[in-house]
Amino acid sequence: MVEGVSKALWITVATVFAAAAAVAPVARGQQAPCYFVFGDSVFDNGNNNALNTSAKVNYLPYGIDFPQGPTGRFSNGRNIPDFIAELAGFDNYIPPFAGASRTQANIGINYASGGGGIREETSENLGERISLRKQISNHQSAIRKAAVPESQLRRCLYTISIGSNDYLNNYFLQPPTPARRLYTPDHLGGGVGCAEEVNQAVDIFNNKLKALVADLNSNLSGVKFTYVDLFSGNAQDFAALGITVGDRSCCMVKPGEELCAKDGPVCPDRTKYIFWDNVHTTETINGVIASSAFNGDITSPFSISQFVN
Ligand SMILES: *[C@@H]1O[C@H](CO)[C@@H](O)[C@H](O)[C@H]1NC(C)=O
Ligand SMILES: *[C@@H]1O[C@H](CO)[C@@H](O)[C@H](O)[C@H]1NC(C)=O
Repeated sequence: MVEGVSKALWITVATVFAAAAAVAPVARGQQAPCYFVFGDSVFDNGNNNALNTSAKVNYLPYGIDFPQGPTGRFSNGRNIPDFIAELAGFDNYIPPFAGASRTQANIGINYASGGGGIREETSENLGERISLRKQISNHQSAIRKAAVPESQLRRCLYTISIGSNDYLNNYFLQPPTPARRLYTPDHLGGGVGCAEEVNQAVDIFNNKLKALVADLNSNLSGVKFTYVDLFSGNAQDFAALGITVGDRSCCMVKPGEELCAKDGPVCPDRTKYIFWDNVHTTETINGVIASSAFNGDITSPFSISQFVN
């Protein structure tokens, strides 16, 4: 948990982030034969652009620091999978499923979708989105069409960051959704309304996810899972890197909204800010999270570098 940083803001990046990979080594340069990405807006890099949803950001100031400008990434620049692809030696960022060529499944595809959730109905208040279940079925069809050999799929890196929307755009929505009526706090999460309670609910989920990762590692041979803890960064670490602003967004967000206002003003020094909009982190933070996941500072039990080296 980031001390001194608004929990109301921080909670929104308290996503589930689990990485899975086989352990076989690969050649120098590109350190894994392929990399697949699943998740929500934290990982989305353009899949929502053509969807009828309020959760899309293919407009400025999103992408203001990205070479191609606005792409659908929910940040000012690179997102976490972009940095992981760089660290793992890929020549290019993993492209979105939307518009990917058939052969792209041999190298990697990003299936993530803003608003996407574990539960199907999650974020229906935002419009169209690609649920985790649908992302997995998109992956199945992509690897089938490209006839990617199983021996190769076993050596890929996979990262999944999803779950926040199941709380923010489902369970904690007002008026209460069916999920809220059906489940007890301990089953899905607890509390009512305020961010402290949301944090507590997410904490229950994350602790169970950590236990699941341990379970999967002991039950399944041939695949290794690790848990990436976005909560374990702290304000001192960030301050040491000159990232000192944690209580407001860098871009202008209209009252009652979460995303940057179209063509609105932005803070001049993006590298000092944790939050880009009211929900998503800056490129600087994305880089810090990716390198800490890669070198093992915020992972358990494996670092991502152990997977790819
Ligand atoms: C987009 O979604 C909204 C509400 O979800 C609906 O009213 C509208 O007709 C949809 N637009 C298109 C082009 O499908
Ligand atoms: C792992 O195996 C144990 C013992 O068979 C079982 O109880 C548990 O549900 C399994 N966990 C998973 C995630 O498959």
